[in-house]
Amino acid sequence: MTIEYLPLQSGDKMPLIGFGCWKVDPKDAPETIYNAIKVGYRLIDSASNYKNEEAIGKGINMAIKDGLVKREELFVTTKLWSTYHKKEHVREALEKQLEQLGLDYVDMFLVHFPLPLKHVPIDVKYPPGWYQPGEDVITLDRAPMHECWAAMEQLVEAGLTRNIGVSNFNVQLLMDMLTYAKIKPALLQVELHPYLQQEHLVRWVQQQGIAVTAYSSFGPTSFIATGSKRAKGVEPLFENPTIKDIAAKYNRNPSEVCLRWSLERNVAVVPKSLNVDRMKMNLSALDWKMDEEDVQAINQLDMGLRFNDPMVNAQKLPIFY
Ligand SMILES: NC(=O)c1ccc[n+]([C@@H]2O[C@H](COP(=O)([O-])OP(=O)(O)OC[C@H]3O[C@@H](n4cnc5c(N)ncnc54)[C@H](OP(=O)(O)O)[C@@H]3O)[C@@H](O)[C@H]2O)c1
Repeated sequence: MTIEYLPLQSGDKMPLIGFGCWKVDPKDAPETIYNAIKVGYRLIDSASNYKNEEAIGKGINMAIKDGLVKREELFVTTKLWSTYHKKEHVREALEKQLEQLGLDYVDMFLVHFPLPLKHVPIDVKYPPGWYQPGEDVITLDRAPMHECWAAMEQLVEAGLTRNIGVSNFNVQLLMDMLTYAKIKPALLQVELHPYLQQEHLVRWVQQQGIAVTAYSSFGPTSFIATGSKRAKGVEPLFENPTIKDIAAKYNRNPSEVCLRWSLERNVAVVPKSLNVDRMKMNLSALDWKMDEEDVQAINQLDMGLRFNDPMVNAQKLPIFY
């Protein structure tokens, strides 16, 4: 298996398949990340809000120490949490994350959500999550994105991250951002799977020279564990007859069909699995191709069905409406 890459504006190359770290328990994370690197993953997709970065960093550093990989062969992505959008908090957030990861720099730093939450000082609660300590309601902050982005740009100049990008942004926000960005976002990471295809968003963003990564490529699968009613109420992607028929045609698993469909759109993926065999299976999406007629058949499955939606989750925030 050879890793394939997407070119970024900086000249860096981002692996087309990475390993997703959301819901990896900190107690499992060092071994899981070590195994992911051992089986061939070269991109690790982390975030402060996954509440496991210290343990993720342990896994990365164990793999480097054991000679499985050199730091420069790895592509580490992490994300700025929403309580650090004010320009004076952006750098301290990444510095804290680097300390937790045990790294000098990351390869990609993404604004996690276009959603400024009231700041929580690191020494009060870290990572802070969605709410102010002791509260269970969302408190927004007056932190304009153009100031947040200027602070992100300074992190590139300071050598703390090689690239910067955004996550969960839409076309309107990106159009505005392109009017002031000195460094254009290198990457957009959004929820994408056969039930939520966001065709216009993906095409427009790619036309701007911005790379796209799909998260939650297996659709509802990841959200069953969060108790999502939407995820429980829909046919599992792996049971969908179109996905199953295409899997049978190529003697592959339905999960591989979901990943390969993204790669056929030139969209990177970051599947998460705690299981080494499934980790390997997910990487093997690089090994084959899907006929255009099968891509077209999957394109018919779009339902505009979003699972990572802060409106239907506890936060009740309509950021995608
Ligand atoms: N930017 C954002 O806001 C955002 C939001 C969500 C996710 N993400 C990123 O995207 C990554 C991936 O998304 P995700 O974690 O939501 O979900 P995912 O990768 O779509 O799905 C993970 C689920 O699928 C199972 N699975 C993995 N490989 C499988 C296979 N080959 N066959 C059958 N089941 C399989 C996993 O179980 P096992 O572990 O038991 O294999 C787990 O339950 C995250 O980890 C995170 O890094 C980013």
